[in-house]
Amino acid sequence: MIKACVFDAYGTLFDVGAAARIAAAEPGAEGWAPFWPALAANWRRKQLEYTWLRAVAGRHVDFWQVTQDGLDWSLEAAGLSDPALRARLLALYWELAAFAEVPAMLEALAGMGQRLAILSNGSMGMLDGAVRSAGLSGVFEALLSVESVGVFKPHASVYDLVGQQMGLTPGEVLFVSSNGWDACAGAGYGFVAAWVNRDGAPMDRLWGRPDHVLGDLAALPDLVAGLQAGV
Ligand code: LAC
Repeated sequence: MIKACVFDAYGTLFDVGAAARIAAAEPGAEGWAPFWPALAANWRRKQLEYTWLRAVAGRHVDFWQVTQDGLDWSLEAAGLSDPALRARLLALYWELAAFAEVPAMLEALAGMGQRLAILSNGSMGMLDGAVRSAGLSGVFEALLSVESVGVFKPHASVYDLVGQQMGLTPGEVLFVSSNGWDACAGAGYGFVAAWVNRDGAPMDRLWGRPDHVLGDLAALPDLVAGLQAGV
C-alpha cells in the first residue's frame, strides 16, 4: 500500500533548464542565446558530476556551491566571462518554474489521501525558494534535504531520511524522479520507484530498476490509483 509520494526536486518538479532558457530570451543575450541548450546541459551535467565526485571522496559542500561551480565551468567552456550573466542565471535558479502538470497532479494525489514530500540534493533554502516561487507552499508535509546527512544522492543515508522523518517503510513510498540514476537507486533501495523519462532516454544500467516509467507527471495519480487497487 503506497502511503506517500516522495519527489525528487530538480528536473522532476522544477524545470532546471528554465534559468538558461529565460536568460537567453532577455535583452542583451543575443550573442550567446543560440547556445543556451548546450550551456544548460553542461551546467546540469557538471553540477551532478560534482555531487557524485564529492560524495565518493567524502568532500561535501552544499548544493548551492556545486550549482555555482557547475555554472562557472559551463560559462568558461562557452567562452563567456560575464559576471552580470552569471548573477542573473544564479538568481533564476532560485525561482525555477514547476513543470505545467505539477500543481494539478499534486492536488489530485493529496485528494487521494497521499502524503507528499520532496527528497532532494537541494539545500533547505533552495528548496524553500523553489517551492514558494512555484506557488506550492503548504503542499508538502516535508522538504527533506541531503544537508541533514551531509552527503549527496544516491548515498543510502539520503533515502533513509524518508523512513526516519516520515515513519514509512520503503515499500510504502512511491519515489518519483526524472533522473534515471536516482530512480534506479531509489528502486535499488527498496522504494516503489517511478522514473519520469521526459526525454526518452535509455534506462540507466545500475543496481536497481524503476518499477514504472512515465513520460511526464500527469499520469501519476492514475498510477497511484492503480497501485492501490492492486492492478
Ligand atoms: C535533486 C537533484 C538530483 O533534486 O535533481 O536531488
